[in-house]
Amino acid sequence: MKIAFVGKGGSGKTTLSSLFIRRLAAHRIPLIAVDADINQHLGSALGLDEDAESAAVPPLGARLPLIKDYLRGANPRITSAATMIKTTPPGEGSRLLRICEDNPVYDACARTVPLEGGDIRLLATGPFAESDLGVACYHSKVGAVELCLNHLVDGRREFVVVDMTAGSDSFASGMFTRFDMTFLVAEPTRKGVAVYRQYKEYARDFGVLVKAVGNKVHSPEDLRFLREEVGDDLLTTFGQSDWVRSMEKGRPRPLSELENANLLALHTLHEAADAAYAGRDWNRYTQQMVHFHLRNAESWGNAKTGADLAAQVDPGFVLSEAPTPQPAELSG
Ligand SMILES: Nc1ncnc2c1ncn2[C@@H]1O[C@H](COP(=O)(O)OP(=O)(O)O)[C@@H](O)[C@H]1O
Ligand SMILES: [Mg+2]
Repeated sequence: MKIAFVGKGGSGKTTLSSLFIRRLAAHRIPLIAVDADINQHLGSALGLDEDAESAAVPPLGARLPLIKDYLRGANPRITSAATMIKTTPPGEGSRLLRICEDNPVYDACARTVPLEGGDIRLLATGPFAESDLGVACYHSKVGAVELCLNHLVDGRREFVVVDMTAGSDSFASGMFTRFDMTFLVAEPTRKGVAVYRQYKEYARDFGVLVKAVGNKVHSPEDLRFLREEVGDDLLTTFGQSDWVRSMEKGRPRPLSELENANLLALHTLHEAADAAYAGRDWNRYTQQMVHFHLRNAESWGNAKTGADLAAQVDPGFVLSEAPTPQPAELSG
């Protein structure tokens, strides 16, 4: 299950994704955590030492050539890593990723993080410099995540949780359509709600499942505000948390000591994520990656690589948990 936490800066994406990740870890549910936020704080929210340990996570953005070479495998439609762009879809011969496996991508980029008595893997795009925003470097860093998601075959009770921005980059590339469930973290403010509306607007045409999650909800008035503005899309809300506060002071406590109301909200997120499996459609998922690939090829990819990137699309290929029989096998 691919889960995104999005929202405006400071709304609590990193905090809520780290709590969700902790809950999964406490239940021994296999998962990969991905930090794709502009401010790379997921590692420290998961208890890594801010400077030393988080910085030691080898960023995906720095290993793009390795990632591309591994994923394209023996796919004859992708002639070189240089012609593989962030939206290049898998086809016959491509290598796919699984949540529970060892592979060269995880070997190169994943960090093992001890959490709630188990171990999880953490991937990170790498820090964004001010000068990265809006230019190729930023795209390629987040692009590594998109490539991985497009090559991932994940099953029902295993998770990828991505802490990411709600920026326009994810709309241009198609990244925002890569998730079974998108949790939009919104504070009870006009800005928080505006980000929700904008995201919802983009998502509508693509069948993207978005649920708003209120955060830093202090009062009945806050709750009323969110209910009025967001309506039925408001899944649940988190209050101001002393547990989160003490984390921030460098005094971590076990998840079981999180405030009851916030534990309950976490339970609701988990249930909603599980329920999203019913809406999963690998055909649509594959069609959308092709759609965005063709769009990106035309708008910049063909010009940048000097190749016709539409030719990378394998028309017979559908990403799927259970490999679908090839037409030859069906007729024979
Ligand atoms: N429910 C909460 N209770 C207490 N502090 C919170 C809560 N949610 C977020 N914060 C604090 O607000 C700040 C911004 O949260 P963060 O998760 O880093 O936001 P984002 O990742 O969206 O930029 C952090 O200092 C965080 O500890
Ligand atoms: Mg953050």
